[in-house]
Amino acid sequence: MQVEILGSAEEGADFVAKLALGRLSGGETHNLLVSTGGTFKPIYQRLRTEPASTYDNVRFYNQDEYCVKKANGAWGMIDQDDPQSFRRFMREQLFADTTVPSKYSFFPGIRDRRFAGTYDRMIAGHGGIELALLGLGRNCHLGFNEPGESVSPFGSVTRFVELTPETRVANYDPAINEPVPPAAITVGLGTIGLSRELVVVAFGEHKSPAIQETIWGEVSPAIPSSMLRLPENIGKTLLVVDEAAAAEL
Ligand code: PGA
Repeated sequence: MQVEILGSAEEGADFVAKLALGRLSGGETHNLLVSTGGTFKPIYQRLRTEPASTYDNVRFYNQDEYCVKKANGAWGMIDQDDPQSFRRFMREQLFADTTVPSKYSFFPGIRDRRFAGTYDRMIAGHGGIELALLGLGRNCHLGFNEPGESVSPFGSVTRFVELTPETRVANYDPAINEPVPPAAITVGLGTIGLSRELVVVAFGEHKSPAIQETIWGEVSPAIPSSMLRLPENIGKTLLVVDEAAAAEL
């Protein structure tokens, strides 16, 4: 696994944006797995200023979206205009008022609750993911793959998951001031592992314990990001961190 340590989050965002644009201009990368979260805001800020032609043949596969209980008691996807919706996040951060077209943006849906892996089959049908851009949770989750063999085995596919209390606290946004939904549909660790290149991004001191565990901890679903060190993943993984997130290495 390679680790790239940049002086600041700004430099890190430049590095990741340039890497992604370099892959897209190479002509062999069409399918991106993309993440939401604060880490990606400065990266998307850079990507959305590129000319529209950069994204002519690009499909964006988003990692996850929240689920909520609907009035009839059944689980459904959060409304796409809800302030907490990741579909809204991507519209605002990457697609809206920008040159990046949203017509090729996909999200996992409630169908993955009944038929886990529907999204994986769609991705495979489109040729698979060439580049995955991933954030890292403080509890080492990738996507919403929360720690534990029973919830996030290394081979997991896109499915319904319940969120841990610490993730709901970490994702609470005071500007929105609503409780974070208790569940989501997320790509699995197995879905992520099928990508041909994995770039995991973490900035800030609060991520340094997670970076340390990712690199030095036990390889086990108790540390979901340790899947990056499986023999089939380690050679295609790059961690991009700033000095603050690298503090405990
Ligand atoms: P963050 O989220 O970028 O907002 O820190 C990362 C994650 O939880 O995956």
